[in-house]
Amino acid sequence: MTTTLTLIQPDDWHLHLRDGDALRAVVGATAQQFARAIVMPNLKPPVVNTAQAQAYRERIKQALAQAHQAGEIDDRAAAFEPLMTLYLTDNTSADEIRRAKASGLVHGVKLYPAGATTNSDAGVSDIRRTMSALEAMQEVGMPLLIHGEVTDSEIDLFDREAVFIDQVLDPLRRQLPGLRVVFEHITTSQAALYVRDASVGDSAGAIAATITAHHLLYNRNAIFKGGVRPHWYCLPVLKRETHRLALLEAATGGNSRFFLGTDSAPHATRLKEHASGCAGCYTAPHAIELYATAFAAMDRLDQLEGFASLFGPAFYGLPVNTSRVTLARESWEIPQSLPFPGDSITPLAAGETMQWKLVA
Ligand code: NCD
Ligand code: ZN
Repeated sequence: MTTTLTLIQPDDWHLHLRDGDALRAVVGATAQQFARAIVMPNLKPPVVNTAQAQAYRERIKQALAQAHQAGEIDDRAAAFEPLMTLYLTDNTSADEIRRAKASGLVHGVKLYPAGATTNSDAGVSDIRRTMSALEAMQEVGMPLLIHGEVTDSEIDLFDREAVFIDQVLDPLRRQLPGLRVVFEHITTSQAALYVRDASVGDSAGAIAATITAHHLLYNRNAIFKGGVRPHWYCLPVLKRETHRLALLEAATGGNSRFFLGTDSAPHATRLKEHASGCAGCYTAPHAIELYATAFAAMDRLDQLEGFASLFGPAFYGLPVNTSRVTLARESWEIPQSLPFPGDSITPLAAGETMQWKLVA
């Protein structure tokens, strides 16, 4: 049996880092594992222009430097590179897209349908309002990162991703065949098959999807096992087992359209364990171990490096990392809680035993 696994250092292509003290509390966990991460712009207020993205990047770098100085992270982690994104609104202009592209710091623009998830109130009310921005993105090759759920409260929560494909995503791709699209944190077999089989509109248009570790490891039963378990609640919500199996097949099958995005989304424990608990799973501290567990269960650990370290840079047109990480087969217990400003934070699967550990 494999006892260690060395990989080109992975990147996280979908991450929430928050801001201020919360940022300071969580950034080190990601930096210890990943060389780079696509940082989501859903702050309060959201990151809507290049100047704000630049300033946010500086705050992330500053928080990293503080963590390094405090001895919380090593030298490799101190070199972590945040890849910034903008939050698409009804008012995003074509000029802002061109500025973002020219900055070299902004790597994608995120579409949140208004009201779909945490801090998405300023999101897009109707995709038709964003056409000039989307056309500029197609023109300059700026990827559109999509939270793919409809927000219509009449549509069953578990069906919102599949309905989004038919109502929004597919028509959009037909209208803008050169637009580069990442279907973020896919959760259904419909999404996996759509991305696998989608034809590429023209030479520039391409589609990819990120997949979280929790959607590979758990189905919706996890939310209700022995009582309501809010730490397993995220959006898009976990789906039934058939969908999990389709995602596993997609992630471990060596198809470069699928790559790693944790969607690690930190919320204070008290706000998760709440009458109206926040959506989001905190997986940053043990992300690559969670993915290794999923790939090992499929006996496809040999496919982890492509998914975690090669396919993302290829899509985003960035160099592959030169650093390496090593995982060992080793039992350890996920902490019950970790420090977080004013409270604690509860990592996903807190208290459970992992069989893989990042050791170098
Ligand atoms: C994310 C968050 O908390 O920012 N929550 C989540 O459940 N994934 C937002 C998001 O990505 O939908
Ligand atoms: Zn997210």
